[in-house]
Amino acid sequence: MKLVGVAGSLLGAKTANAVEEVLNAAKSVDPEIETELVDLRNYEVEFVKGKPLSEYNEDTVKVISTILSADLLLFGTPVYQASIPGPLKNLFDHIPMGSFKSKVTGMITTAGSEKHYLVPEYALKPILTYLKGTVPLGNVFIHNSDFDEQNEIATPVVKTRIGNLAEEMILLQKSLSSRY
Ligand SMILES: Cc1cc2nc3c(=O)[nH]c(=O)nc-3n(C[C@H](O)[C@H](O)[C@H](O)COP(=O)(O)O)c2cc1C
Repeated sequence: MKLVGVAGSLLGAKTANAVEEVLNAAKSVDPEIETELVDLRNYEVEFVKGKPLSEYNEDTVKVISTILSADLLLFGTPVYQASIPGPLKNLFDHIPMGSFKSKVTGMITTAGSEKHYLVPEYALKPILTYLKGTVPLGNVFIHNSDFDEQNEIATPVVKTRIGNLAEEMILLQKSLSSRY
């Protein structure tokens, strides 16, 4: 079973570190699981222009192929203007309709304001469900004050929530995989 974690920030390290924490937690739940981090800061993903995937640059092909190769996925997003950042939305625009059928698609969010804790629910979840992903009941919202100076998660309860999310994602995926 392969879990791909996508970190949707092009700026800081908080989102990528949070995604990595979930990948590590998943390994603790199930040591057999294969994990891969796709940190968008490391790729030049092109804007969608309505052409076949093979005609985009190498980075775009690599990122989209890695996402499509996953059995289950975790999307990490920072909050930008009360929504998800443009580069992450552009990434989803590359994904063919129905690609997440029978796949668990988890969410983890970083933000500067607690007031935006519902952003993943209204800005990210509808995209994941449109692509036919199964979104776990739990998701993790992390305020900037939960990170230390090295941008690592410092608040114990957030780590507990991350462990719970990893557990729910794996349990759900095993149940989905046994059905289809
Ligand atoms: C352009 C921009 C817009 C932002 N808009 C919001 C916002 O609307 N609400 C919020 O809570 N945080 C907002 N933030 C703060 C980021 O979500 C937050 O700092 C996040 O942890 C950054 O993650 P990163 O370190 O992975 O880049 C914004 C940051 C930037 C750069």
